[in-house]
Amino acid sequence: MIKAALIAGARPNFIKIAAIEKAFSDSGAFKNTLIHTGQHYDAKMSDIFFRQLGMPKPDMFLGIGSGSHATQTAAVMVETEKVFEKDRPDVVLVVGDVNSTVATALTAKKMLIPVVHVEAGLRSFDPGMPEEINRIVTDAISDHLYISEPSGLTHLRNEGVPESKMFFAGNVMIDSLRRFEAQAKATNYASSVGLKEHGYFLITAHRPAMVDNDQQLTVFANTLLRLAEKGDVVFPIHPRTSKRLELVGLADSLNAHPNIRMTEPIGYLEFMNLMMHAGLIVTDSGGVQEESTALDVPCVTVRPNTERPVTIDEGTNELMALDADLICDAADRALAGNWKKGRIPQFWDGKAANRIAEHLANAL
Ligand code: UD1
Ligand code: UDP
Repeated sequence: MIKAALIAGARPNFIKIAAIEKAFSDSGAFKNTLIHTGQHYDAKMSDIFFRQLGMPKPDMFLGIGSGSHATQTAAVMVETEKVFEKDRPDVVLVVGDVNSTVATALTAKKMLIPVVHVEAGLRSFDPGMPEEINRIVTDAISDHLYISEPSGLTHLRNEGVPESKMFFAGNVMIDSLRRFEAQAKATNYASSVGLKEHGYFLITAHRPAMVDNDQQLTVFANTLLRLAEKGDVVFPIHPRTSKRLELVGLADSLNAHPNIRMTEPIGYLEFMNLMMHAGLIVTDSGGVQEESTALDVPCVTVRPNTERPVTIDEGTNELMALDADLICDAADRALAGNWKKGRIPQFWDGKAANRIAEHLANAL
């Protein structure tokens, strides 16, 4: 059996690792050790995903917590080194582009342990985005690169990565979505809280470029107030964003609006249900761009770029500047049913993690 250390630290990691953990177990070729770095730790950012996605409890919890980039990255390196020294895995698998991803990849590579990166090759070409640095560094040092969409192949080839290192496996985020879609539907969450089918707007925001800047955050809050004139606005708030909304003094005016529902982060199944029945999703999330395409729901990504262009070229996603007029116009189009029809990108079929398990077992 191949001893595989599977690393998860932040909310989107849990959803991806859930698919990989299951496929690796099912394959019979791997003995998994599930390591939670503790980058995200609130019950609603962490535990609920393990429960709802049927994952085993982590074998190890490193308790890293929050901090500056250097503090968090360094802490993950120090703790993962101790773990790998004690029980050396045959392979270390990291997903996505968060600080826990790059930190663990660096530790393992310097210990000469093969590194697997799932969701490799994505590029926003925006060096101001911390995730872009994490992606470039992780890909540069990984031994096995599993790609989720065609742009990933193009970028890795342009960077001179040998073909033998890369494999277009598909999207593991969508594996979890397909696996839990029926359960998410059965929660009837949107209707149970009185939301009108395809009549409300689902909002998420957590990128530093949007929420850490007072002026941008104010424009964003004003955009939500404008949207609320057209329908209910449902806004499950990331902890980074709730702290910032309080600090800038915007939380009260949003909360006071009868059509705006601000909540804590919500569970995966309930969130999926909200996505399925939304009129329009407005987001800056990576995962939500992909899930809205997989669910064929109109999505506006409020960013100047995306590392997930297949969601625009083939899916239901549109990039948009943070401009209330533009976003309100998109809302009108979506409510009127006047939105492009997407198609499901290649290998977003619920089987990406199985392909990775098979390919990696052969490669090792
Ligand atoms: C991180 C990732 C980002 C990813 C996002 C997913 C990096 C650099 N960023 O951003 O790529 O899109 O996760 O959600 O890795 N906090 C809590 N409770 C928690 C977790 C965080 O209160 O359980 C608060 C803390 O104040 C913390 C802040 O949120 O300082 C930011 O957390 P952090 O993990 O540093 O970055 P995210 O914005 O969550
Ligand atoms: N999500 C959730 N509840 C929420 C918000 C998000 O379950 O309240 C899920 C959703 O599936 C999303 C995923 O968490 O794709 C990743 O979240 P996030 O936007 O934090 O990370 P990103 O994908 O931008 O790195």
